[in-house]
Amino acid sequence: MNDVTTTGAPTREPSLRNRMAMYSPNRLQIGLFGANCSSGRAVTKVAERWTGSWPDNLKLARMADAAGIEFLLPIGRWKGYGGETDYQGATLETMTWASGLLASTRRITVFGTVHAPLFNPIIAAKEMVTADHIGEGRFGLNIVVGWNEGEFEMFGVKQREHEQRYDYAQEWLDVIKMIWSDKEDFDFSGKYLHMKAIRGKPKPWGGTRPVIMNAGASPTGQAFAVRNCDAFFMQASRTSLEETARRVVNARNAAKGHGRELGVYTVGVITCKPTRKEAEEYYHHCIVEHADWSAVDGILALKNISPATVPMQEFLTQRSQYAQGMGGLPIVGDPDGVAQQLVDLSKAGLTGIAVSLVNYADELPFFCDEVLPRLERAGVREQPG
Ligand SMILES: Cc1cc2nc3c(=O)[nH]c(=O)nc-3n(C[C@H](O)[C@H](O)[C@H](O)COP(=O)(O)O)c2cc1C
Repeated sequence: MNDVTTTGAPTREPSLRNRMAMYSPNRLQIGLFGANCSSGRAVTKVAERWTGSWPDNLKLARMADAAGIEFLLPIGRWKGYGGETDYQGATLETMTWASGLLASTRRITVFGTVHAPLFNPIIAAKEMVTADHIGEGRFGLNIVVGWNEGEFEMFGVKQREHEQRYDYAQEWLDVIKMIWSDKEDFDFSGKYLHMKAIRGKPKPWGGTRPVIMNAGASPTGQAFAVRNCDAFFMQASRTSLEETARRVVNARNAAKGHGRELGVYTVGVITCKPTRKEAEEYYHHCIVEHADWSAVDGILALKNISPATVPMQEFLTQRSQYAQGMGGLPIVGDPDGVAQQLVDLSKAGLTGIAVSLVNYADELPFFCDEVLPRLERAGVREQPG
């Protein structure tokens, strides 16, 4: 009998299609974003803010796995943002974090977030294969090129001009995909990488490769994603579902132009309480009254957003959006309201959403008990088997 894997999960066919579906039948996939970082994605001083510790991550991952949540997406962050809370100052490295969680869960896909310019591709390919074997086909790659100058300075690595970052990432990913293929002892000679007699064994689990995502926002970044990736994370419009639907169609069509299928996802920040009033009050409490504004202003400065560079009204809007989940779509309400907003996003064509919560482990049970059944009744998800 070979109908369970070493992690106790049912056997699954690790085809790329199944990996892209995160081994799930659900029309709207749900992931948790940012739990490997202290404070997660809420720039708040409230005492219950997320620790990002290993025990809390492990507890959260097991809970999410049991509830049928599809994926965990970490943030590759090397240096915190300071402020009163040193926002995201303590972070668990994503590849080792993913390996530990994959060994401790049964179904959930766990991503590692890799800064291409900071990781030698041979080492990265092998680390990812190792994680993929531990998870028996459940590892995913979030490839990022980096934007935070201070982090690169800490490594002593010079950040390239924006366009060249993606040029470099293209070569990096080409090498990784070749190592994961049946190629043996091959040379690679590109504009940036010159490598001889490359060899990498074992191959990823089950004769295919990990699912690959990217969240480029610039035209160059988006073009990179649709050309190379299975999943693309984009910003949903805050004001118009039609606009979100248009962005989804555009991304899918661009991928089709390269003969590729593309899952299209967005990022949300959920505040769900028994009543809408409670949800709005908690949101206000965490993200307005107790926001860590010194950290927010540090983040904005890194992104060159200040009253000197953008109009005052725009600056204030950005300031408030960064406090709340670094610009993710705010989804605030009672279980009916939160479920409805998620159904609407599914109707707009999104494959899924990666969400964050102020304290993931404290808030997830209520979300799973109240919102997931509503999504099942609305036909966008099924009960976990
Ligand atoms: C879902 C999501 C995850 C991301 N993860 C990271 C990350 O872990 N580390 C990082 O430096 N940038 C991360 N980014 C930033 C993007 O990779 C990208 O650099 C950013 O959206 C700017 O786009 P551009 O590179 O095309 O200018 C993430 C963005 C999103 C939306």
